[in-house]
Amino acid sequence: MNTQPPSEQHLLRRCAGALAIAVGLLLIGWLLAAPADAAPRHGVPGHGVTVSIACSSTGMDQVACREGAEAWARQSGNRVNIVSTPSSATARLALYQQFLAARAPDIDVFTIDVVWPGLLGRYLIDLGAYVDAARRAEYEPALMRNDTVDGRLVALPWFADAGVLFYRQDLLDKYHLKPPDDWAALSADAAAIQRGERAAGNARFWGYVWQGRAYEGLTCNALEWIGSFGGGSIIAADGKVDVDNPRAIAALHMARGWVGTITPPGVLNYSEEEARGVFQAGNAAFMRNWPYAWALAQGQDSAIRGKVGVAALPAGPGGRHSAVLGGWQLAVSKFSAHPKQAAALVLYLTSRAEQKRRAIAYTFNPTMPSLFDDPEVLAAAPFLGRLRPVFADAVARPSAVVKTRYNEVSAAIWTRVHAVLTGEATAAGEMRALSLELRRIGHGGRW
Ligand code: GLC
Repeated sequence: MNTQPPSEQHLLRRCAGALAIAVGLLLIGWLLAAPADAAPRHGVPGHGVTVSIACSSTGMDQVACREGAEAWARQSGNRVNIVSTPSSATARLALYQQFLAARAPDIDVFTIDVVWPGLLGRYLIDLGAYVDAARRAEYEPALMRNDTVDGRLVALPWFADAGVLFYRQDLLDKYHLKPPDDWAALSADAAAIQRGERAAGNARFWGYVWQGRAYEGLTCNALEWIGSFGGGSIIAADGKVDVDNPRAIAALHMARGWVGTITPPGVLNYSEEEARGVFQAGNAAFMRNWPYAWALAQGQDSAIRGKVGVAALPAGPGGRHSAVLGGWQLAVSKFSAHPKQAAALVLYLTSRAEQKRRAIAYTFNPTMPSLFDDPEVLAAAPFLGRLRPVFADAVARPSAVVKTRYNEVSAAIWTRVHAVLTGEATAAGEMRALSLELRRIGHGGRW
């Protein structure tokens, strides 16, 4: 063993060797990391880029989003980064607004609510240049109009929603009932089934679950109750505020009456997923929710698999049915470092083939009308065809009228309605106050 101290030359050689190894390692590291952004410089545009997409986490949203995005990544030679966002639309909007106000490039593709194009449009690129005429014509025209802000196509429609009534067919059979056509029948049937099931030993059984938390979902529920009573749509298409009227007040009075009788008091903190949790565990006769809940209710691990039906929401005293239009769009951030690849991902995810896959696997309503005639889609989710008029007639929230003030408007609505539901305030008093508040926000209806 050589115990001699190393000579200076030897040391220099060793240093040079170590340096060469370090440089080599750095080079390998750079080469491995480089494809993401360097690839276009090698003449292969679009390859090896990482595109971040913000997916929802409601129900199967994230799984379905990931599957689609990863399929695009494989096909296009890019990579995707799935950013999970809260299930609540209101919480998600707050998060998006933080990212966008900070001009953060972290998220390239945003999943945006049907009511947000006016609110977020200024932060989103114009997708017009990426969508040819044939492709444009495939989407539902009303949704394309909704996603066009000041002439710019700021998003593409991904899936549509409308509020629907889920019911337990097995329990309706047991109690010799049929799906309720109006709210009076729903209230009576829910009470009867609840009484019967509790007497049979399920102390946790409730008649009707819905979304009563103070957030966007409550605005949807309230608009449906009020619309079905003929009480208008809170803010009309011409910007006029109309909510302090006897029918709107009667509708809210009805909903207040459900809390603690046929609806658990906890509904005051329910969003879509809490309502689904109770219904899917077999502890409710009826549920108001969006179509996504059907695929899950029919899932392998569902306690109510094969026992569920879907119908239009019940009508008000005048026989009018009302469902709110919901749904999600895909948009590309102006701060994205890879707008071309991000737009390609949006086109892939909103394509006919991908929408068909999502409709069959997860009952996401397509935004391309032709898919409602597709036999495989109809076989997987028969109610999509049967309830087509419900989807076609779904009522839009006033986002197109109030544009950038939508969240302020909706927050005023859900806050007042929540106060009625908790019993803190009367429906008449809150609707009067809401009317004044909305007029103030909208400068007397001029918006
Ligand atoms: C659903 C709808 C969306 C709505 C939200 C409210 O996700 O698609 O439009 O705003 O529910 O909770």
